[in-house]
Amino acid sequence: MSINQNATSPTMTQKDTEVLQPDDSGLARAAAILRGGGLVAFPTETVYGLGADARNNTAVARIFEAKGRPQFNPLIVHVASLLDAEKIAEFDQTARSLAQAFWPGPLTLVLPLRPDAGISALISAGLPSVAVRVPEHPLAQRLLRAFDGPVAAPSANPSGRISPTTAGHVLAGLSGRIDAVLDGGACGVGVESTIVGLQPEPVLLRAGGLPAEAIEACLGQALAQAKKTDRPNAPGQLDSHYAPRAALRLNATKRRTGEMLLGFGAVDCDLNLSASGDLTEAAANLFRHLHDLDARASGGIAVSPVPDHGLGRAINDRLRRAAAPRD
Ligand code: TXA
Ligand code: MG
Repeated sequence: MSINQNATSPTMTQKDTEVLQPDDSGLARAAAILRGGGLVAFPTETVYGLGADARNNTAVARIFEAKGRPQFNPLIVHVASLLDAEKIAEFDQTARSLAQAFWPGPLTLVLPLRPDAGISALISAGLPSVAVRVPEHPLAQRLLRAFDGPVAAPSANPSGRISPTTAGHVLAGLSGRIDAVLDGGACGVGVESTIVGLQPEPVLLRAGGLPAEAIEACLGQALAQAKKTDRPNAPGQLDSHYAPRAALRLNATKRRTGEMLLGFGAVDCDLNLSASGDLTEAAANLFRHLHDLDARASGGIAVSPVPDHGLGRAINDRLRRAAAPRD
């Protein structure tokens, strides 16, 4: 199946986006496109990533072009194993113990870039560090092994929009701008990875799919909170990000006229993140429900309060950014 429905910028070549099935031939095709310098969206346990060969400058530049990212902000490099990650970044004992505890899984580590890493300079955007992650999703693992190299992948959405948790979300945002999407169904975790920097003290750079409490328990110490200077100027760090088209009103206890309500817990609402108040279920539903309500809402979206612990921290972080004033 080919879908080609998006308007493109004048500099962007319109292309058919292939939808690849999650089987041997789909994976072989996806790996071949990556080898040829193309862009393939693929599922991870967090959200769909927009992958390119991390060693190929032109391919990495295409990611920014397809997403409409205004600047060359740093990207996460995805690899199949800790062994492969050690070819790209310098691991000290703390980094190694976090990797051993949580990889594969929804944790990204920002570590010193190895001088012989061999990855495109666009990935670290001139920083001496690099973000690396070993995803757990079986299709991501199979793709990384079939490709046999590092894959740069931001979330597979147009810059500033809601992250995709299904192949349909990817196509709705990027059809015609990328070569293919590998369809692996819905992502299980549903929010992006937790990002920890080691400078060398551990710092929480982004709350995400791995609760900060689990990382702190492994480290035996609290994570420092990121200061503005710890953060590169990247879309994921901007106030307004993950933005639906509809206006969002947070900590709402009931709908106002014309609004739709995104609920949490036992509330009367249009869609519920988790009727039983389960934060894991809520994270998995967050972007899907925002996509769905955004398509239906004409008068704004109200959102129930979500507790601010465990995965609730990542959920609230994404909701605050989605509700922030736009330019
Ligand atoms: O779950 C995820 O992390 C998904 C999936 C596809 O793996 N990827 C993702 O990528 O969320 P992206 O590009 O949307 O977010 C990457 C974040 C950015 O906010 C950027 O600031 C941070 O990673 N980052 C990348 N390299 C960094 C570096 N060297 N230092 C500090 N932060 C970095
Ligand atoms: Mg993103």
